[in-house]
Amino acid sequence: MIIKPVIKGQVAKTCHPIGCKKAVEEQIDYVRQADPIKNGPKKVLVLGASSGFGLASRISLAFGGAKADTIGVAFERGPSEASVGSAGWYNALYFREAAEQEGLIAKNFIGDAFSAEMRQQIIDYIKTEFGGTVDLVVYSLATGVRPDPETGQKIRSSLKTVGEPLTGYTVNLEKDCFDEGVLEAADPQEIEDTVRVMGGEDWAEWIKVLSDAGVLAEGCQTVAYSYIGSQITRRIYHEGTLGHAKEHLHKTADVLDEQLRKIGGQAHVAVCKALVTKASVFIPAFSPYILALFKVMKELGLHEGCIEQMQRLFAQRLYTETGEVPVDDQRLVRVDDWELRPDVQEKVQVILNEMGPDNFPELGDYEGYKNDFLKLNGFGFTDVNYDEEVSIENFASRQP
Ligand code: NAD
Ligand code: NA
Repeated sequence: MIIKPVIKGQVAKTCHPIGCKKAVEEQIDYVRQADPIKNGPKKVLVLGASSGFGLASRISLAFGGAKADTIGVAFERGPSEASVGSAGWYNALYFREAAEQEGLIAKNFIGDAFSAEMRQQIIDYIKTEFGGTVDLVVYSLATGVRPDPETGQKIRSSLKTVGEPLTGYTVNLEKDCFDEGVLEAADPQEIEDTVRVMGGEDWAEWIKVLSDAGVLAEGCQTVAYSYIGSQITRRIYHEGTLGHAKEHLHKTADVLDEQLRKIGGQAHVAVCKALVTKASVFIPAFSPYILALFKVMKELGLHEGCIEQMQRLFAQRLYTETGEVPVDDQRLVRVDDWELRPDVQEKVQVILNEMGPDNFPELGDYEGYKNDFLKLNGFGFTDVNYDEEVSIENFASRQP
């Protein structure tokens, strides 16, 4: 079949297997020539390993100097009669093939990271085939739903502000326009539910089950990813439901750090830059900021994607030569430092003051935003021939 991008709302309904391979290869090529990770971990579990920051973490840890064996967990769909499957499925497959060629172990678990069975399978695998322990756990799950571990009932997160509602524009990726919308105010239940889905509770549970099973190595580290943003995005993100969840994640890092110190380990939250991922395109009223930010950071030569962020995180923050992890006064690791530079924020504000539905493609980096989105799904690569037939049947018998 010939596969074209089909976008509905903020979701890509198709993906291109050859382009997904290209996307993984590009990231591998980047980290091979980047400032390498010295003293890196050797046995890594990545939760949320198939796209965005989690995939970039895995690529960076395998190919960016540490030569780590990795276990990747992700919720993805394989090809079927009905559909080509999801990009993350192909990403996981191509990552494994590339890592195995390098002589590294790259085991994928495709399924629900919240389920007890999945946790047990992973623990069994670590014990029987992965050398017994892991020395880094990367927590990079992003989801809108999580089952309550006690009742099994689904808890749903909301993307809302807190306090007064506000109006703003959101990029419509299907129609290439700005949609004006109201960012509603969350009620207390919605805040609490978002904290339970995207806060630190599940991260802490994972560390507990792994620790109880005895599969955390001496000196084991764990890291989860956060966003804080600036004054410009404060009402949309930091003070909103997601910001509340991230506050909880930050507190969880301190609790986990205390636990891991007992085995010589550490727990950190890394605060990252705003980027286009499968998850972030859903945040209402946030995209104009990203368009302006990309424009400014590219002009200043400061722009990074997920892979540049993760390579810098591991090489220059979490695994430094002295072993010391540089943190701020909240004990957070900051790789959002360039985004938050005062000169960057000032220039972004100037652009946003002028930006609207008629001029956003000129004033902001819409081309870059859209292209990043397409690339997440294997489209928009100049060296992939999108008019060529792809035989999905070839993938039917393969496993990530
Ligand atoms: P993403 O959607 O690209 O990746 C999410 C991953 O989680 C995927 O691998 C997906 O398969 C997996 N996943 C989701 N539900 C799952 C389940 N039930 N079981 C197993 N796997 C599951 O998202 P992302 O943007 O990379 O987000 C990762 C983290 O980074 C989040 O905590 C997010 O808040 C944070 N972050 C994102 C940005 C940004 O701008 N995108 C900035 C800073 C921090
Ligand atoms: Na991820």
